[in-house]
Amino acid sequence: MEAIDTNYAGEGMYREFILDHFKNPRNFGTLENAEIRHREFNPLCGDQVEIFLKLNGDGAIQDVRHTARGCAISVSAMSMLSETLRGLTLREVAGMGKESMLGLLGIPIGPVRIKCALLPFYALKGGIIAYESRK
Ligand code: FES
Repeated sequence: MEAIDTNYAGEGMYREFILDHFKNPRNFGTLENAEIRHREFNPLCGDQVEIFLKLNGDGAIQDVRHTARGCAISVSAMSMLSETLRGLTLREVAGMGKESMLGLLGIPIGPVRIKCALLPFYALKGGIIAYESRK
């Protein structure tokens, strides 16, 4: 698990808003009684993302938290994704593709960083699949 990926930042690869999300991740924390709670980790580096979703009576996402710990791309991707989820139904989230997640970052993501960028996406999808299978 790396504190900050200064090599990439030094190369100017990360835009300022990505570093801002990394340093101040939005919706960071946990949720008591979350209907959906799911953790994904990257076995190559050990970085991990845990996502918590609270649903309203209509099955839409009412609240979201996460405890992303990892590189700048994985944490900022989780932070950005968390800002888009409130009000969405699980069906709408299920329809989201990887390109939606990658588009949030606003920079080209190469093959080395694709696992970082998609870690939050897999946490979200995995949580919903697990939730649906329990129903
Ligand atoms: Fe571990 Fe990016 S280096 S998720």
